[in-house]
Amino acid sequence: MTVSKLPERWRANWENNVKLGKMLDNAGIDFMLPIARWVGYGGETDFHGEVLETITWATALLASTKDITVFATVHTAANHPLVLAKQIATMAQMSNNRVGLNIVAGWNKPEYEALGHDLPADHETRYEYAQEWFNFVKKLWTSKEPFNFDGKYWKTKRSYGNPLVEQMPPIINAAGSPQGRAFAIDNVNFLFTPAIDLERSKEEIAALKQQANEKNKKLDVLTFSHVICRPTEKEALAEKQRILDNADWAATDNLVKLQFAHAHSFPHDLLAQIREGMALGHGGFQLIGTPQQVADKIMSLHNAGFRGTTLSFLDYNKEFPYFRDNVLPILAANGIR
Ligand SMILES: Cc1cc2nc3c(=O)[nH]c(=O)nc-3n(C[C@H](O)[C@H](O)[C@H](O)COP(=O)(O)O)c2cc1C
Repeated sequence: MTVSKLPERWRANWENNVKLGKMLDNAGIDFMLPIARWVGYGGETDFHGEVLETITWATALLASTKDITVFATVHTAANHPLVLAKQIATMAQMSNNRVGLNIVAGWNKPEYEALGHDLPADHETRYEYAQEWFNFVKKLWTSKEPFNFDGKYWKTKRSYGNPLVEQMPPIINAAGSPQGRAFAIDNVNFLFTPAIDLERSKEEIAALKQQANEKNKKLDVLTFSHVICRPTEKEALAEKQRILDNADWAATDNLVKLQFAHAHSFPHDLLAQIREGMALGHGGFQLIGTPQQVADKIMSLHNAGFRGTTLSFLDYNKEFPYFRDNVLPILAANGIR
């Protein structure tokens, strides 16, 4: 997730992924969440242009691991509900129900152009489509009889899913818009949202939980974080500077432009901060410092109400062992692992 030109940056090939999957599984990590990307962000490195397709990636990882949950990240517009329902049911059967589903309703216009799809300009249409897509998927997972699906986007005859799923897989989505958050409350177990100002996050999470409660739903909130953990703070900050000195800024600017279409209206200092955070770790909450400092920051996420966080590293395979050996024990001693 680091937009870097450094030769030791993460390469998303299978050899690296399977090594990482086994290491995370052995360390007792809960889940792996992939980025689904159809077009990279350009620049010198075409950041994220090489990420692997996530259904096949997750299937092979599930076959290579024992306990960890592995998510597939799926764009509703690019995956037919009947095909997707059967893929996930197949993965659930082969993995003792360790597969999860991350639903993406769409935002990245160049990808939609590459797929030959229109990205609806308004969130109402995106999430109306996503809702019908997921209703169809759920019906395929649970209906014992063939059914005709009579929706706005799909009209089918005698559709059915076999195998069904024994239990609903964990479902997640990431959304900032009111429509995306309403979709999360109605449909998913976990909503992903960036952590920028933890006081604001605290209020946001309490409000989301309250809204879910009113609809008799349960929703947990997750965030994503980027780790630079070193024995001393000085070393961690030096590494941060080294990464910024070697960032692929052209790719970063494309990423910022696409993610924050209205960023020009932001104050300049905030824009600089967002740009730096995007280069370091895709805008994730920064866990930079000694093992104790990193653990303290994770505990502050916990205290703000986050149920968990994903972790990214410049090179996962090289850096995760230090995190595992030095940060996880502190979290365990504090009762949050
Ligand atoms: C942790 C996280 C993971 C995400 N994964 C993907 C992804 O793999 N592919 C993608 O196109 N979008 C991904 N997104 C973007 C979201 O799915 C969503 O479309 C975006 O946050 C826009 O929200 P909105 O629909 O409320 O505007 C991710 C966002 C977050 C925070």
